[in-house]
Amino acid sequence: TGFVTLDQGFVNTASTTSAITYIDGDAGILRYRGFPIEQLAEKSTFLEVSYLLMHDALPTPAQLKDFGDKIRVHTLLQEEMRSFFSGFPRDAHPMAVLSSAVTALSTFYQDALDPLDPEQVEISGIRLMAKLPTIAAYAYKKSIGHPLPYPDNSLDYVENFLRMTFGLPTVQYDVDPKVAKILDMLFILHADHEQNCSTSTVRLVGSAQANLFASVSAGINALSGPLHGGANAAVLEMLEQIRKDGGDVNAFVTRVKNKEKGVKLMGFGHRVYKNYDPRAAIVKKAALEMLNTLDKPDPLLEIAFKLEEIALSDDYFVSRKLYPNVDFYTGLIYKAMNFPTKMFTVLFAIGRLPGWIAQWSEMMVDPATKIGRPRQLYTGFAEREFVPIDKR
Ligand code: CMC
Repeated sequence: TGFVTLDQGFVNTASTTSAITYIDGDAGILRYRGFPIEQLAEKSTFLEVSYLLMHDALPTPAQLKDFGDKIRVHTLLQEEMRSFFSGFPRDAHPMAVLSSAVTALSTFYQDALDPLDPEQVEISGIRLMAKLPTIAAYAYKKSIGHPLPYPDNSLDYVENFLRMTFGLPTVQYDVDPKVAKILDMLFILHADHEQNCSTSTVRLVGSAQANLFASVSAGINALSGPLHGGANAAVLEMLEQIRKDGGDVNAFVTRVKNKEKGVKLMGFGHRVYKNYDPRAAIVKKAALEMLNTLDKPDPLLEIAFKLEEIALSDDYFVSRKLYPNVDFYTGLIYKAMNFPTKMFTVLFAIGRLPGWIAQWSEMMVDPATKIGRPRQLYTGFAEREFVPIDKR
């Protein structure tokens, strides 16, 4: 069976070739299809970036309109899906509801599940892009006992999501364009990140030729972990805890450096970036912008600034090249937008969806694709004799 090497966590082993996202972790560079993230964040929109990731070129105005229109007509969930949400307990984690509902989509669209048929893949991708914000909003509405609204397709992608999340039939709700703009930009920053844990999961599941809904649902579950997308919620919990404990940032950093069990500086460190995460730099600026619109300053921002300042000058973090990652400041923005902490990772999932679809689709048309099947180095017993139960 040949020579097997051990690379736990895929630290040095590429699982695939890919033409979608480029990262230079030492230089802190991130590009989608060759375009620097800074330019996309400033000048593009989430739907345009989604198109770019899925099609490998920026859309013409006509292509973008067509893409947006296709997504718009699919935002509605089947009525049976609405009752699906009432089956969960009210305190269900919205990430669990999200992944379950995405799996459930495959029960409604059985006519278009073939991963090898490009037309079926395209419509599945459109359905996912259109329905994930609706599902996300319903997961939230369910958790607070509010009625589930219908999408309003006269609104754009992010506005529609914000209205479904925060609107109520009894009160006029106007989307704040500034909030919509910042959220759209955050979705762009999350849209792809090459072979991260959830994307590799989506690819691995798809490599068995499971359908797109099944694969993305698995990716959502991977993303929910605190070392991955769940870090954005974990950062806020960490900041809250430091505030409750009297705001002593130095004491917390000492606990991190002492490697107390379960104590990490959440929102810091990255497998690939050994420099400032370029997304974190953009998020930090947006956090300041967003938090400046609040009537009274969020004390957690002060704690985050102090943490970053101490960490960036402390040898523990400097020698290990630990810098803030994308998750360090996003939670503060989401909080200022009134999202509860439990929803933060759901927002990450909405942003990452086009990347998952693009990566999965790239794999499906690549003739070099094989089922993902890592090897192992066995460390268990050599052969031994079975002992009948009455002799043990
Ligand atoms: N706080 C304290 N120490 C850390 C941290 C941290 N956040 N991250 C890494 N280290 C230490 C780690 O203990 C190790 O030290 P030593 O060499 O003494 O054993 C060294 O730095 C190298 O870390 P590693 O765990 O080998 O690095 P990794 O590439 O396996 O892990 C990571 C990357 C992102 C999982 C890790 O940095 C981490 O757990 N960070 C906190 C969680 C987080 O913010 N995750 C979000 C990642 S970015 C967005 C996303 O993927 O969703």
